This record gives sequence, C-alpha cells and structure tokens, in this order.
Amino acid sequence: MRYAVLASGNGSNFEAIITASKRGQIPGTLALVFSDQPEAFVLQRAQAHQVPATSFTVKEKGGKQAYEAALLALLKAEKIDYLVLAGYMRIIGPELIAAFPSRIINIHPSLLPAFPGLHGIADAFKYGVKVTGVTVHFVDQGVDTGPIIAQQAVTIGKLDTLDTLEEKIHQVEHRLYPAVLQQLFAEK
Ligand code: GRF
Repeated sequence: MRYAVLASGNGSNFEAIITASKRGQIPGTLALVFSDQPEAFVLQRAQAHQVPATSFTVKEKGGKQAYEAALLALLKAEKIDYLVLAGYMRIIGPELIAAFPSRIINIHPSLLPAFPGLHGIADAFKYGVKVTGVTVHFVDQGVDTGPIIAQQAVTIGKLDTLDTLEEKIHQVEHRLYPAVLQQLFAEK
C-alpha cells in the first residue's frame, strides 16, 4: 500500500507522519509528497527525510482542470493507493475523488461540523467556545465535509490565547493523524 501526502505549507503534520512511519508505526509506504506551492516548507522537509517530492501550480498547468489531470496522472504513475491531505489548501476535484473513493483523508483543526473552512482555530477562539478540537475525515466534494473517522477534543481555558490554542491543536494533530493512519492502513 502506497500513500501520498498533499500539502501546501509548513508540513508539520507530514513531519509527524513520516516520523511515525520511520518508527514502523504506520503500515504502507509514504511514497510521495506533492505540493501546489513550489516554495512550501513541506518540500524541504520531504527532501530531508528522503521522501520523493514534487510540485506544480495550477497556473503552470494552465488551469484547474489541467492541474487536476496532471496530478491524477502523477498519482497513477506512482501507483498511489491513498491520499493524505495535510494542510493542502485546494478543493479536491470530482475526478480525483472518483479515482480515490473513500481513499482521501483530511485533518481539520476543529470539531467538525463546527468551524469548517480556512480558519478553524481562530473562528472557534473568536466565537468563545470552551471546547474545540481536531477532526480526521474522508474527503468528499464539499469543504471539510465527508464521513468522520476520528475526533479529539481540546479545551479552551481562561488563560488561553490564540497562540496557545494553536499550539495545543497542533500537538493533538501530530498524535491523532499518525494514530488514525496506523489503524486505517492496518485494516487494508
Ligand atoms: C493543520 O492545522 C491542519 O489541520 C490544517 O492545516 C494545517 C496544516 O499544518 N488542515 P501543517 O502544514 O501540517 O503544519
């Protein structure tokens, strides 16, 4: 079983996954990192871990449809079975979803269906909820929708700031995502 990580930015979740993988915690092979952002730090992290990594932009490919087609061709050429989204900031198109039925997984920094979208942590903090958290779910055509696989709560205390909350959420993500992949891929 071969999986790819798709990421657009920092890649701290990729780091947690590759670390767990190298420890033998996650079955299968992390065969590819793909980014839609050529400058994303995740690509440097991939290189440091000697994981094959590649990147191209929508603009380079001449539009969304051609970009998705190129990505699908790449994933097929690399014989990828599962897609693991880790801070991938694009909506997955219908062709990719059809090519990977129930095989695309995402992590979101809130307790879905509360606070979907780009700013899950800040939105929960601003709203003033006392409990937020992290969700791992299968991806469908919506934004942060799709069947939920696992959730973990994070409490927001009186002394928390947006920074401390972000820190707490990321710590939970870095444990939860590898644990979910461990279980999911063991069943394959
Ligand atoms: C994480 O908070 C994840 O939940 C969200 O994007 C962020 C990615 O962080 N989807 P990183 O690039 O893995 O550090």
